[in-house]
Amino acid sequence: MSTSLSGKTALITGSTSGIGRATALLLASHGAHVIVSGRDTGRGAGTVAAIQDSGGSATFVAADLSDLASVAELARLALEVTGRVDILVNNAGILPFGTSTDLTPQQFDDIYDINVKAVFFLATALLPTMVEHGEGSIVNLSTTLATKGFAGSSLYASSKAAVETLTKVWAAEFGPQGVRVNAVSPGPIATEGLAPFGDGAAVFYNGTPANRLGQPEEIAAAVSFLVGEDAKYIHGVILPVDGGASIW
Ligand SMILES: NC(=O)c1ccc[n+]([C@@H]2O[C@H](COP(=O)([O-])OP(=O)(O)OC[C@H]3O[C@@H](n4cnc5c(N)ncnc54)[C@H](OP(=O)(O)O)[C@@H]3O)[C@@H](O)[C@H]2O)c1
Repeated sequence: MSTSLSGKTALITGSTSGIGRATALLLASHGAHVIVSGRDTGRGAGTVAAIQDSGGSATFVAADLSDLASVAELARLALEVTGRVDILVNNAGILPFGTSTDLTPQQFDDIYDINVKAVFFLATALLPTMVEHGEGSIVNLSTTLATKGFAGSSLYASSKAAVETLTKVWAAEFGPQGVRVNAVSPGPIATEGLAPFGDGAAVFYNGTPANRLGQPEEIAAAVSFLVGEDAKYIHGVILPVDGGASIW
């Protein structure tokens, strides 16, 4: 086990599945105590067991990020685990698509509650203690689609565009106090989140330099870099990890 994150506590939302789970395993392998979170306690226990089986340490804290009270409770319980949260990975997100005229106010709220509002209020609940310690690192998950006009992605892409703007504003607000805030912008990654697209997911990578789906571990590697010491001069970037999809 690498020890580059030894002594750090990392809260990773949506780490019961996909990119979050891969990130939890990687940060734990670098020595962080990982707080695994999601709604599904069974899958949460599975991520914790996988980390512990590899010699790492982790705790599961259940939360439903569509509910602001649950977001606040997650922040409170996360701070109780080791007394501090040094790293926050705002990974949980939902990826629904639909033609804009078919989307309902409820779908708008569902997407924005989880993809934007929970990100905002979880980060702002944890930032004061990071500032108090004079150090901390936040990585938000965006998407290549945040800067594109891909038909059917209106609510999803715009919610992630908001996340990209929050990333830059927070970098400016909290960087001077020792907290670095960055984002990773994945292309299409082979996870449950992408599963509803089936073979249709090829539209997201056909003709890109990599010409394939990415793997969750390839996104985890970028998150791990951004939260670590090697990235200590990096503030406010939106790092594309997308097989080249962003050069279209
Ligand atoms: N996969 C891609 O192609 C892709 C591309 C670009 C960006 N991204 C972004 O990367 C992030 C992870 O995506 P993924 O594909 O790995 O997703 P995923 O496999 O669908 O996993 C989503 C995670 O979010 C959690 N989650 C969903 N709703 C939640 C809620 N209401 N409260 C708490 N947790 C909730 C789920 O946990 P529970 O089920 O346990 O609640 C799960 O752990 C997302 O922000 C997504 O937008 C993904």
